Amino acid sequence: MDDLYRDYILEHYRRPHNFGVLDDATSSHEGANPLCGDRITLQLRVNDGVIDAVGFTGRGCAISQASASLLTDEIKGKGVDTAAAMQATDVLDLLGIEISPARMKCAMLSLETLQAALETSAP
Ligand code: FES
Repeated sequence: MDDLYRDYILEHYRRPHNFGVLDDATSSHEGANPLCGDRITLQLRVNDGVIDAVGFTGRGCAISQASASLLTDEIKGKGVDTAAAMQATDVLDLLGIEISPARMKCAMLSLETLQAALETSAP
């Protein structure tokens, strides 16, 4: 079972969903993990309170990039309020594997970046 989950993470790392730059983003934020220098730039296009497009670029470890891939899939088409209510446990559920305390920063980079991007998003 564990290997299945690991494959799933690696698949998102190798072929991340929503990877790319949005030309018409309404908000954007670059988040970084200062411990390792890994970074994610997350862009949102918000229309009438709904995230109708999302894209990210970045580089980093498998957990950080896979969590960005999974999280962007999750918030696409959702209301800004729903996305803003996402918690750490939601990201851990999406990842579906045990995350050690040392890797928690990796798993949360995408969520922290999303929260910052939403703060700069126009109402
Ligand atoms: Fe840098 Fe995971 S090692 S975010």
